[in-house]
Amino acid sequence: MRKNFKEQSWVFPMPVFILGTYNEIGTANAMTAAWAGIYDTNKVFVSLSSHKTTDNFKRTGAFTVSFATKEYAKECDYVGIVSGNKVPDKVARAGLTPVKSEFVNAPYFDELNVALECEVSKIIEDEDGIKLIGDIINVSADESVLTNGKIDTEKLEPLSFDPANNRYYTINEYVADAFKVGIELRNK
Ligand SMILES: Cc1cc2nc3c(=O)[nH]c(=O)nc-3n(C[C@H](O)[C@H](O)[C@H](O)COP(=O)(O)O)c2cc1C
Repeated sequence: MRKNFKEQSWVFPMPVFILGTYNEIGTANAMTAAWAGIYDTNKVFVSLSSHKTTDNFKRTGAFTVSFATKEYAKECDYVGIVSGNKVPDKVARAGLTPVKSEFVNAPYFDELNVALECEVSKIIEDEDGIKLIGDIINVSADESVLTNGKIDTEKLEPLSFDPANNRYYTINEYVADAFKVGIELRNK
């Protein structure tokens, strides 16, 4: 027997993006976004309602996407439940340290070890909200999360979001090599 839940945005896992932008006065803002993903090889998309962040990237034309991590789950949740419109110093209150991207006009956060540094490519705004598409100009990663020069998710411990239960998980158990484990069946 299956239970039908009708219309739900349940995709597992969803990412936990921390969007970094600059406020009008040059201070940093951060917000959490899970309705998001890769749009094309070098593009990300985020589905948004109106926030301080949306005003910011419309003005600056840039944003960063850091991956929320197990170590900073509390801080990453906080920036998703408090708006920069009401708490302008929310980044400082979260204890996150903004660092100016070398590539785009937006900050990433020192505590979050991997960031996509993006320029706004397209903003689609209609009655369903705001769809942001960004060009990934650079990916930066702290050396502490690299193994053999590549980003090691076991070291990074990125969070994923479970929308059915509103929970964060990590998903680091290695299972098999992608594009390889199925070869055995293809060759049968
Ligand atoms: C786990 C989680 C996921 C979220 N995902 C989104 C999202 O995908 N789109 C969105 O518009 N808001 C999302 N939010 C809500 C925003 O992060 C929240 O409204 C935030 O306060 C906006 O901050 P700002 O006004 O400073 O930009 C999410 C919040 C949490 C906690």
